[in-house]
Amino acid sequence: MIHNLFAFFGADHKVGTTMVAQSVAEAISTHHPNLKILLAAMNGRESNEYIREAPAGIDGLKIHIDNKMINGEDFLKTCTHKGNFYVMAGISNETEERYYHPEMAKYLMGEVAPEFDMVIADCGNELDNGLAVGTLSIAGESFFVAAQQETVIRRYEKNRKLIEDLGIGITAFLINKFYEQDPYGLTYIANRLEQEKDKLLKIESAGYSRQAEIDYKTLLDYKNEGYLQDILTVANVILRKNGFTEIQRQRKSRWKSFI
Ligand SMILES: Nc1ncnc2c1ncn2[C@@H]1O[C@H](COP(=O)(O)OP(=O)(O)OP(=O)(O)O)[C@@H](O)[C@H]1O
Ligand SMILES: [Mg+2]
Repeated sequence: MIHNLFAFFGADHKVGTTMVAQSVAEAISTHHPNLKILLAAMNGRESNEYIREAPAGIDGLKIHIDNKMINGEDFLKTCTHKGNFYVMAGISNETEERYYHPEMAKYLMGEVAPEFDMVIADCGNELDNGLAVGTLSIAGESFFVAAQQETVIRRYEKNRKLIEDLGIGITAFLINKFYEQDPYGLTYIANRLEQEKDKLLKIESAGYSRQAEIDYKTLLDYKNEGYLQDILTVANVILRKNGFTEIQRQRKSRWKSFI
């Protein structure tokens, strides 16, 4: 178990796993400039949709992983970063996904995590992906990203046993793109997921989602107060788990990204 590794994985495609993971990483890096944060794409895709300058990816590290030649300090020195926000993109050549195995993810995370205060891993939503499965099996905490959508909830119901068999303990279920008026409220979803309601956290639906894709930015950059507050809630869960001070909320939080 790597106590400072936090994994995000999605119930399905496009539920917002990458957006939420990156937003949480950005929020922590911005409010805690003294902490070194790594956002690592540990799934079958590059997952750098919201970062303008393409970060170095895992492909370049593969030969070093295969030969057990990863050195945490070297990783830190060469990893793409802006201030204290470090990023490693995922697999660029998606046809090579099958060459990455769970043991490789465990080895890589084991070597690099000690160099950072926190590692936030985007594990995508495919439970047959080696990087995702390996990361989820050793993460200190795992967050499951879902949405108020029948097909998304049904996929969880179908895969639930597999998730449990993989030994993935879910800290919180993040119901993303959340609309208060949606008939699929938190109580209903909690019942469907067979979870206590306090294990569910909403993340409000924000405007500008397509603009964020065009601009290579997270939704934090579009001044949506509800979205920011919900991301801070998740960020504070993570900070608390590692004994760091929580981000103080202002009545009207201003978001000023440096990323
Ligand atoms: N809270 C939100 N409110 C509105 N739009 C959102 C929210 N979260 C994510 N989105 C939008 O949903 C779309 C998919 O997001 P994202 O790329 O994070 O999904 P994903 O689950 O990582 O997808 P993939 O399956 O490709 O990995 C994007 O257009 C993003 O801007
Ligand atoms: Mg993604």
